[in-house]
Amino acid sequence: MSVYFQIAYLIGAVAFILGLRGLSDPKTARKGNMTAAFGMGLAIVTSLLYPMADSPDNYAWIIGALIIGGAIGWWSSAKVEMTSMPQLVSVFNGLGGGSAMLLAFVEFMNLLQVGTANKGLSLLTILFTLFVGAVSFSGSILAYLKLDGKVKDKHVTLPQHQIVNMVFMVVTIAVLVYTFMNPSITSVSIATIVCILYGISFVAPIGGADMPVVISLLNSVTGISAATAGFLYNNQIMILGGILVGASGTILTVLMCKAMNRSLMNVIVGGFTATGAAAAGVAKDQGPVQSTQPIDVAILLNYASKVIMVPGYGMAVAQAQKYAKELDTILSKKDVEVYYGIHPVAGRMPGHMNVLLAEVDISYDKLLDLDDCNSHLSDTDIVLVVGANDVVNPSALDDPGSSIYGMPVLEVWNAKQVIVFKRSMKPGYAGIQNPLFFKENTKMLFGDAGATLKGIIDEIKTLD
Ligand code: TAP
Repeated sequence: MSVYFQIAYLIGAVAFILGLRGLSDPKTARKGNMTAAFGMGLAIVTSLLYPMADSPDNYAWIIGALIIGGAIGWWSSAKVEMTSMPQLVSVFNGLGGGSAMLLAFVEFMNLLQVGTANKGLSLLTILFTLFVGAVSFSGSILAYLKLDGKVKDKHVTLPQHQIVNMVFMVVTIAVLVYTFMNPSITSVSIATIVCILYGISFVAPIGGADMPVVISLLNSVTGISAATAGFLYNNQIMILGGILVGASGTILTVLMCKAMNRSLMNVIVGGFTATGAAAAGVAKDQGPVQSTQPIDVAILLNYASKVIMVPGYGMAVAQAQKYAKELDTILSKKDVEVYYGIHPVAGRMPGHMNVLLAEVDISYDKLLDLDDCNSHLSDTDIVLVVGANDVVNPSALDDPGSSIYGMPVLEVWNAKQVIVFKRSMKPGYAGIQNPLFFKENTKMLFGDAGATLKGIIDEIKTLD
């Protein structure tokens, strides 16, 4: 490889690393994203120039695919609602795995043409890439369908699904070993289909509150498939980019497991199982809830000295972050301390709440992580739970029958008063009832969180 290509790849690699570093902090995330995008652009152009002398005929195909793929990517990113961003990320992730799968398939066919004698290592790399690529492709597409509510966990989960998965895993490995021993178009086609089906079956029983773990795990699998595809072409930047994605996905998976207080094995083998009344999303007889109105909440806030807002998925749906910021500004002028309690799995993608609050320039100093927030709560006057549900569910601590039992939650009920903003008594993503709503110090403010927060702002302005 010419030294110019090596230098270009090196610059691309450094840009990836600096980009990742930037992404680790909300203040530098935008710049980090642009830096990584520059690195990727450079890597693409360099790879595009590299094979020019060997196969100029391919240019029309490559540029055609780049234009079509780039246009679809641009259009879907520009058009997507902020609330559907997690689904888009899942689809993009799946397409990465799908590309690795197709590359492996094509390279397998190429190998068949030149003969597979003494090509054991290449064949092994191809089949491994095919496996991880296919699992990441079909698994991510199912994750997308689940996140979008198009597929319900119960519709794709078989009885004893974990045992089914173990048998499926053994069958998949057997088919891959057979393909390795007897490489042919038929065996590789069957292996591809089996791997795709295994990806679906792997993700099928994982759902509810465990989804964050499976999403980050798929992320990491896609990275691995890109890295092994890089080995097929001996392309350093592809290997490095894949390893970086794989490693960051793995770190995220560990963080998500920590946030759920579950081991990865427990999430994969345990499946999503809720038992008892909570599982059915049915309220145990916990008495009536107390509802309230914006004017009453405005009066309470007017006399508070410390307020914590807990944002959740509903804040993203209502796009209520701008009103949260406006209320924060009004309260801060009245010398009320305002903080935000951020649960690591709140929303539908890692860092979802940080992104929402960063959009409206809420200062990072005001964001409290789970432990910090819990230690603040006992001397907090009012907690505003804005569209959060599972992440403030006390069943996680005191109901061993609950599917989220053991997950650390924001213990908002330890504050003097809790106001829950939601539209109905429907459960959150995990599909379980929340006893918080029935506690003596909790009041429900029903309605769209944007409208009710705005109502409070209007009322509080009249209270001076
Ligand atoms: P959820 O438990 O999903 O609760 C969101 C609440 O927002 C719902 O109870 C809903 O009640 C309310 N809501 C929806 N639209 C609203 C609106 N316009 N105005 C007011 N309220 C609205 O959210 P959470 O507490 O953020 O927990 C996240 C859940 O998603 C966890 O179970 C987590 O494991 C899972 N999950 C997370 C991720 C990642 S990576 N973060 C990925 C996949 C799944 P109403 O319908 O009654 O309004």
